[in-house]
Amino acid sequence: MTLQVRAEPGQEPRGREIDHYLQGHGYRHLGEAPLVLEVGADGLSLIREEGRRELRLHLDFATGRQGYRLAHSGHQREGLIRAMGNIPRDSHVVDATAGLGRDTLLLAAHGFRVDAWERHPVVYLLLADALQRAAHDEALAPIVERITLHAGLATPATLGTPPVAAVFDPMFPERAKRAAVKKDMQLTQALMEGAPDPDPETTLQRLREAATRRVVVKRPLHAPALGPDTPQGSVRGKSVRFDVYAPAAQS
Ligand SMILES: C[S@@+](CC[C@H](N)C(=O)[O-])C[C@H]1O[C@@H](n2cnc3c(N)ncnc32)[C@H](O)[C@@H]1O
Repeated sequence: MTLQVRAEPGQEPRGREIDHYLQGHGYRHLGEAPLVLEVGADGLSLIREEGRRELRLHLDFATGRQGYRLAHSGHQREGLIRAMGNIPRDSHVVDATAGLGRDTLLLAAHGFRVDAWERHPVVYLLLADALQRAAHDEALAPIVERITLHAGLATPATLGTPPVAAVFDPMFPERAKRAAVKKDMQLTQALMEGAPDPDPETTLQRLREAATRRVVVKRPLHAPALGPDTPQGSVRGKSVRFDVYAPAAQS
């Protein structure tokens, strides 16, 4: 099936830029559902059209509760932040699975300097576009400033300077019941069909070799731990769990 880049009137040059980017990365949509990447005046949207029904994913950090919460520090009690332990706020951390950027923003809102990696070219484009718009929002700008988004796989070769900590959230079957999350999940799953993530156990091992203090892995609450090692500890939320691993050298 296809992923069509469709530009709104006036957005054709940006549409061509995006087309070139995807072709340059040899991108081919392998999923069964036809998808549209719409280039609009308000940024990019991923669309799945089914007759008259349309599923649309448009990332916007500035509007809604999430942006407000991030900008006004309602995130201190988040499981992910608690799982980062007493790592100093301005530390360099890696988010190896940026996805739709929620965890990346949470980490940056806490004060970490975040290098975020996203391997899927379309997900990367959606997130890069949303971060660019968020950088113009007065409250979010200082948070976005702490984020560097990279396209590609998070590997020891690409990570560069060893981060203090790494966060890893590989795909797993849907974990949330909220309608908005369901819709986002449906669209990202349609996008990634036929193009699975690299082996998560190997990625975890590589991240443990790179990080100097800890690696945090997000799992469904009742899922087994990833890989053969028992985590040092876990922070449990309502539907997810954050497993904490020591660096490989210390275990
Ligand atoms: C479950 S989603 C992450 C969701 C993210 N934590 C959030 O808050 O939106 C996993 C994402 O990581 C990407 N990914 C998986 N393994 C990766 C790797 N080794 N390097 C870079 N990106 C990876 C996938 O393409 C997917 O977009």
